[in-house]
Amino acid sequence: MKLFNTKILGTGSYLPDRIVTNDDLSKRIDTSHQWIVERTGIHQRRVADLSKGESPSGMAKEAALKAIEAANLTVNDIDMILLSATMPDQAMPNTAAVLQEKLGITNNCPTLDVNAACSGWIYLVPMADAMIKTGLYKNILVIGSEMLSSFNNWDDRNTCILFGDACGAAVLGRAGEKEDSRIYSSVLTCDSTKKDHLTLMAGGACKRTTHEILNNNEQWMTMNGQQIFKAAVTTMAAHAEKVAKEAELAMEDIDWFIPHQANLRIIEAVGTRFNIPHEKVIINVDKYANTSSASVPVALDEAIRSGKIKRGDNLLMAAFGAGLTAGAICLKY
Ligand code: ACO
Repeated sequence: MKLFNTKILGTGSYLPDRIVTNDDLSKRIDTSHQWIVERTGIHQRRVADLSKGESPSGMAKEAALKAIEAANLTVNDIDMILLSATMPDQAMPNTAAVLQEKLGITNNCPTLDVNAACSGWIYLVPMADAMIKTGLYKNILVIGSEMLSSFNNWDDRNTCILFGDACGAAVLGRAGEKEDSRIYSSVLTCDSTKKDHLTLMAGGACKRTTHEILNNNEQWMTMNGQQIFKAAVTTMAAHAEKVAKEAELAMEDIDWFIPHQANLRIIEAVGTRFNIPHEKVIINVDKYANTSSASVPVALDEAIRSGKIKRGDNLLMAAFGAGLTAGAICLKY
């Protein structure tokens, strides 16, 4: 059986216009710019506005069009849409189906949503890779589109300072015969013993959103920040090391490390653990905060468009999220 190599053909991203600074938050809750910057590295975040079409599918449309253009394709060249959203547009139809219509795709390509929280986009890339490698699909749109502001309790200083809205997209397709782009290695895990550290229990089938739920303020996410912090550092560092080893790359062969942008202290602790120089780490958590599964593809797209990441570079990406899900990928761009 002939196997193909997978290449990132194009990327795109979308950030809502509205900026909410730490000072803006400190007018509402008991916090300060200094506290937030010291503990997280976050200066500001973007917040989506539904009246401007900035829903998960709306943001995804803008990011996807840029990715498809960068890939030199047209919308009907896309033969599958995989979309990660912690909070989709609605329970059904899936957000990827809504996106298919918004993009004007008329080829009836399959559409699928996944929820692996912040690891969602990283989870989807090896899945797309497997389908491209075997020739089952040719051009797969892989999206992380997140509107965390829809379940972020703006009165809870433990969580609301951390999150922002955004979308990142990539078109994955076949590398040409003479190209050396490929996905070398990946790892995906979930440690469900830690699943209770980050939850949003209301709104699903087991706990419908009732007046009682709203009166008890149970419609928001809750988090045990310190437990997540510890698990994030150990898991991301171990996964990054594992995929680099499987790719037979030494740390000096890695050109860029693109970690999930949850907290600057987590990123720095992970970098220190597996000894990657600070200059090789892509960071934008200061501007956008934690945008969940959008964070890695947004950082990737910005680094490509700014000329930092070039064809032939070896990239290492890693993420973790509620579940606790985690994953890492090593690839040649
Ligand atoms: N402003 C001011 N003070 C605050 C704030 C705030 N926004 N938030 C908490 N505090 C207070 C606490 O109440 C506590 O006060 P106390 O000592 O009087 O009780 C004090 O600051 C210290 O709180 P800690 O929780 O110990 O602070 P820590 O250094 O752990 O930082 C933080 C908290 C930033 C949340 C950190 O634990 C963290 O980043 N954790 C990881 C979270 C994360 O990445 N979540 C996303 C997961 S990915 C996904 O799937 C969505």
